Amino acid sequence: MHDKYGPSRLRARHDKVHVTDEAAAEISSFKAKPINFKIGIWDPEANGVRYLKALVYNLAASLSDESWKRLRRIDNREVGQPITITYDGEPVCMDYLLAVLELEFVAGQIELDGTRVLEIGAGYGRTCHTMLANHDLVEYHIIDLPNSLKLSSGYLRTVLDEERFAKIRFTPIDDVDERYATTDFDLGLNINSFAEMNAETVDNYLTMIDERSRYFYIRDPVGKYLDGSLDGHAEGREIVELALSTGKLRDVIDIHDSQAVESRAPAFVDAYRPGPRWTCLANGWARPWSYYWQALFGKEATEQIAFGEQLRLENEIRP
Ligand SMILES: C[S@@+](CC[C@H](N)C(=O)[O-])C[C@H]1O[C@@H](n2cnc3c(N)ncnc32)[C@H](O)[C@@H]1O
Repeated sequence: MHDKYGPSRLRARHDKVHVTDEAAAEISSFKAKPINFKIGIWDPEANGVRYLKALVYNLAASLSDESWKRLRRIDNREVGQPITITYDGEPVCMDYLLAVLELEFVAGQIELDGTRVLEIGAGYGRTCHTMLANHDLVEYHIIDLPNSLKLSSGYLRTVLDEERFAKIRFTPIDDVDERYATTDFDLGLNINSFAEMNAETVDNYLTMIDERSRYFYIRDPVGKYLDGSLDGHAEGREIVELALSTGKLRDVIDIHDSQAVESRAPAFVDAYRPGPRWTCLANGWARPWSYYWQALFGKEATEQIAFGEQLRLENEIRP
């Protein structure tokens, strides 16, 4: 009888091991248990890479035409062997998707060609790579800790041509005050790094941005989480305690509750406004991570003036 419509050996095994009478009897709690992982395909423990790839795929599918152009302009994204999917013939990884989404937000507000940019905490340099591939910047300054500077200088030297690489200035933290006593910037950037610094350090950087820059973009979490089911606190209790202690926004929230996240937006904007002369020109959810927010601030900008227009006006009055 089973030969005609019966289960495959695979399904028969699932039924024997997971979709059992005992498991099926637990109607009040079965949905997040192995029985349901043999019905849906989304077992979170067994499918980490599947989830990442699904997320990257969905982001790639929803990217605007303009951002697809931005992404395609970035050569050598495959250096370092990132985890990629292929979309419309193009290899796509999470880091550069984030980078073009960030650039989309900033470039939607201000003109970047001809500007001098300063990034604090650049990691391996994906943002620098993305900006230099897409805009004719004057200079790109990176302030970072020594280990990351080593990584970003090696990476950026590999992925950029000589002309673009020559625009980058790498600044170790000990040289910041001296080197930036007089240098002015058009745009300061902080992406996913103020939240891991001590709050006083963040304030010191914000003071420097207040004095030296005209625009400031930040993309960071609005708060902390303590839900062990999200990551199993995989790095141990000590790291959890350390993570809870850093940054200016330390309230523990349900990071997958959109209302809880949105309610923290005013505190986010307040915390990262570099000083009283600054206006928040735009802010909003920084997808895909539910609890990341982004904001662009302008100094002495009473209204949202296109940056290109400001540069044009200034050039007109310069002798
Ligand atoms: C999580 S990584 C993010 C890197 C990059 N912005 C990105 O999103 O890919 C944090 C970065 O901040 C840097 N960082 C941490 N503390 C710092 C400090 N006190 N001063 C400057 N950079 C710091 C780290 O070295 C690292 O480059």
